[in-house]
Amino acid sequence: MATAVATKGLEGIVATTSSICWIDGDAGVLAYRGIDIHKLAEQSNFEETTYLLWNGRLPKGAELDAFREELAKARVLDPKIIELLRSFPKDVTPMEVLRTAVSALSCYDPDEGDNSHDANLRKSFRLTSQIAMLVADYDRIRKGKPLVDADPSLSHAGNFLWMLNSEKPSETATRTMDIALILHADHELNASTFAARVIAATLSDIHSAITGAIGALKGPLHGGANEAVMHMLFEIDKKGEDAVEHVKAMLAAKKKISGFGHRVYHTEDPRATHLRRMSEALGKSANKTKWFDMSRAIEQYINAEKKLNANVDFYSASTYTTLGIDIDLFTPIFAVSRIAGWAAHVIEQHDDNRLIRPRADYIGTEYPAEYTPLEKR
Ligand SMILES: CC(C)(COP(=O)(O)OP(=O)(O)OC[C@H]1O[C@@H](n2cnc3c(N)ncnc32)[C@H](O)[C@@H]1OP(=O)(O)O)[C@@H](O)C(=O)NCCC(=O)NCCS
Repeated sequence: MATAVATKGLEGIVATTSSICWIDGDAGVLAYRGIDIHKLAEQSNFEETTYLLWNGRLPKGAELDAFREELAKARVLDPKIIELLRSFPKDVTPMEVLRTAVSALSCYDPDEGDNSHDANLRKSFRLTSQIAMLVADYDRIRKGKPLVDADPSLSHAGNFLWMLNSEKPSETATRTMDIALILHADHELNASTFAARVIAATLSDIHSAITGAIGALKGPLHGGANEAVMHMLFEIDKKGEDAVEHVKAMLAAKKKISGFGHRVYHTEDPRATHLRRMSEALGKSANKTKWFDMSRAIEQYINAEKKLNANVDFYSASTYTTLGIDIDLFTPIFAVSRIAGWAAHVIEQHDDNRLIRPRADYIGTEYPAEYTPLEKR
């Protein structure tokens, strides 16, 4: 039976059961497998959080060590993938390259064609390590720099920064990236995860699902918002404008301010709390609080004027910029983290699958419309 009335943007629609992620949008609560995101951001690390998302519980010490080892072992890209990265024009966005390269990874994956739970887990290890490598490697290729070998002794966050910059990252940079990866790792049925589940539900493979998810993440209403925030801050700075006056003019022109608002949260996005703190702390330690100060002024104005809260993308922009990361890597870094959640959802979908096929509320020409032969139109 078709639903009588459509809900624009599927707002409020419950599309599946899931035991991965829970959000209370009124109370500002986000929990992975029941564990509050604040606890994870304060005490966990990306590897442990990923284990939790994939296995439904926290690992014991030896399990975590084995998991770390497995991820480090999976830091391998087929030479043909490197060749592919080198073949792209140097001015395309890293997000387009990531989307295309992830699709190509399946051609070299030994478990391609196997959607079993165990094969999906093995592919998830590889995809998690490979996505971070693709982002780092393409950035170096486009800048004409030599590639950096993965360092198995480093954490996922540390190795990513090492392969990106060819410099051993500081403890602060590594921990900042690690927390950012924890915060972005999953978010229930956000647009990209829903896209991944829809693809997986046709019994297509995990690489197809993740490729589709990356395409969804790229949009400025989703992961692309963090790049849009920084473009706005740079523009304000370049023109020497007042940040609040700038956003006032944007609102007057009926433009949306990237990094604000959320479909689910009606209060502070709990992820923004940590990113705000990290943006401020990094700015202070680098003696460059300009981006944080501008962001804070905009946030206070938008809170007061529009009753809108900053979301995960607002302070990740100034945080990554203070870490010295290029703007067009912000959304790919979102994918470096969100692969953990995407993989958990694809595995959950394949483990208990039913095709996802909703109905549309038809508002077109009334049936039966006349078919007018070509010569009479
Ligand atoms: C996240 C987002 C897509 C949610 O969209 P949504 O649930 O469909 O909400 P809507 O776009 O319908 O917005 C509801 C109202 O709030 C306003 N609003 C929402 N976000 C806004 C923003 N960032 N700036 C200005 N106004 C905003 C809308 O204009 C609308 O006002 P109206 O009812 O007077 O027309 C939306 O808030 C947005 O576009 N934010 C900016 C992009 C962004 O940061 N995305 C990352 C999300 S984590």
